[in-house]
Amino acid sequence: MTKFYFDGQGVDARPDETVLDALLREGHPVNYSCKKGRCKTCLVQHLEGELMAGAQRGLTSRLKENHYLCSCQCRPTQGLKLKSVLAQDLFIPAKLYSKEYLSDSVVKLKIEAAEKIEHKAGQHINLRRFDGLTRSYSITNGAYSEFIELHVRRKYNGQFSDWLFNHASIGENILIQGPWGDCCYSTDFVDDTLILIGSGTGLGSVYGIARDALVSGHRGEIYLYHGARNFEELYQHSTLLKMMMEYRNFTYQACIESDNEGEEHLSGRVLQGDPFDVAMSRHPFDRSIPCDSQNRFYLCGEPSFVSKGQETIFLNGTPLDRVHVLSFDYKDLRSRARD
Ligand code: FES
Repeated sequence: MTKFYFDGQGVDARPDETVLDALLREGHPVNYSCKKGRCKTCLVQHLEGELMAGAQRGLTSRLKENHYLCSCQCRPTQGLKLKSVLAQDLFIPAKLYSKEYLSDSVVKLKIEAAEKIEHKAGQHINLRRFDGLTRSYSITNGAYSEFIELHVRRKYNGQFSDWLFNHASIGENILIQGPWGDCCYSTDFVDDTLILIGSGTGLGSVYGIARDALVSGHRGEIYLYHGARNFEELYQHSTLLKMMMEYRNFTYQACIESDNEGEEHLSGRVLQGDPFDVAMSRHPFDRSIPCDSQNRFYLCGEPSFVSKGQETIFLNGTPLDRVHVLSFDYKDLRSRARD
């Protein structure tokens, strides 16, 4: 056992437990979501004692200087002293400005922060509600708007997403933290071919990244692939078709797993199949060229979709700095975990 201290109370950590695991096992009410160092909902503050390497990986320099660390990434050391963080240290007050239902299960939220926040589509923020419950959501618009926009899918058993979808009202006070992440567009990529692939509400991020690129005067081609279970879940279909008419260098392709109505909706713009496979068949890797082409990839969606795609692209010779990913890691509340 390794003994460390949290808010002055001794905690005995078992071998291989992180600080977060030990705190949760001993019943401390700490927030967390992804347990992978991505969402930053599990931050605690370091007071004294040795810190293992990696405990502050991925934090901004401001957070590091103020001795924050992700409890899910920190292995305790003997005598380590930590304290919980106050919401006002990290969170900014905000209000829910508007709600627009994009489909039966997806709502678009506009959030108005009390102070200006620099953000880009493809980053993510944490939302905290009145009772302290906190979740991470990806941003779907760039800083050209004064609001932060999110596409939220109501999840089965999703305490927070259900609240946002059904109960949170306009003007509701919330707290926000962030933004984080670098799955974003940069004008340094202006001549690259952008291949954006989103599954489910991963569309929100790739749609926002494509818009950021187009608004910034991107000169290369932009291909956006959206994968959904069925036609009803292609919740930005008409908007994306219009975008294709508006910008000559923008192409959109929808991919569905199945069509409830038989093959009624299948056409050139709606194919049956996996969006990643369809994208790869359109943009095959050319192994005869060392360090392949001008292609730059963006993958957003469920963790298994993102990691499989990232690995395939990398193994085919594309450097990882040309593959931008945003993986939706969330608390799995099912009685049986996802494979
Ligand atoms: S970063 Fe620790 S739970 Fe997400």
